Amino acid sequence: MFIISPSVLAADFARLGEDVKKVKDAGATYIHLDVMDGIFVPNMSFGMPVIESLRKVSDIFFDVHLMITEPQRYIDDFIRAGADLITIHYESCDDPFSVASMIRSKGVKVAIALKPATPAEVLFPILPELDMALIMTVEPGFGGQKMMLDMVEKVRALRTYANEQGLTLDIQVDGGITPDNLKYATEAGANVVVAGSAIFKAEHPEEVIAEMNRQAELHPFGVGI
Ligand code: DX5
Ligand code: ZN
Repeated sequence: MFIISPSVLAADFARLGEDVKKVKDAGATYIHLDVMDGIFVPNMSFGMPVIESLRKVSDIFFDVHLMITEPQRYIDDFIRAGADLITIHYESCDDPFSVASMIRSKGVKVAIALKPATPAEVLFPILPELDMALIMTVEPGFGGQKMMLDMVEKVRALRTYANEQGLTLDIQVDGGITPDNLKYATEAGANVVVAGSAIFKAEHPEEVIAEMNRQAELHPFGVGI
């Protein structure tokens, strides 16, 4: 299934509840929540209290992207706050595979994210235990950057391997995705797309979401190789 996950990093933080409702009504199935600690990435965003408050006003699926060091310290807090899916970074702790298993054992979905310099193959051993893999298409830390097109090769490598192994896996791309470049990601095998600026800065988010859905349908995995 193709899923669009608008990143609230590009939303108006003074009207977060309304903005989330707006993109849900516009057809988004997930909402992407970027948590940054100023250490793992050179920027800060928000933490559990904001997620908890949003949970009270929205039942949309919460896709929580943790860009924090030693994420194992806060997993229970994010689950309590309302996370449905927790993504940790491969580079953020010594043993990301155990942290991923720990998250899954608590009954929420789990993903591991890779920064641009980390090769896709590092995830092969743990893929059967992941719900999703996140291939960053920018250096994590800021919205509004340009998509790194060469990252689609990592998406392709993961999708090809997952298919060979008969695994069901969501593959998410995050960073600089627009209706124009989304096709490179879907053709390579991505099926979950994060978009911050492209959706929240648009005058008509519903048109952007509709166009993204259309592009994904027109450009399925395997085309354009
Ligand atoms: C970057 C974040 C992204 C970002 C995406 O570190 O993980 O989710 O908000 O925003 P755009 O779509 O504007 O690149
Ligand atoms: Zn993100």
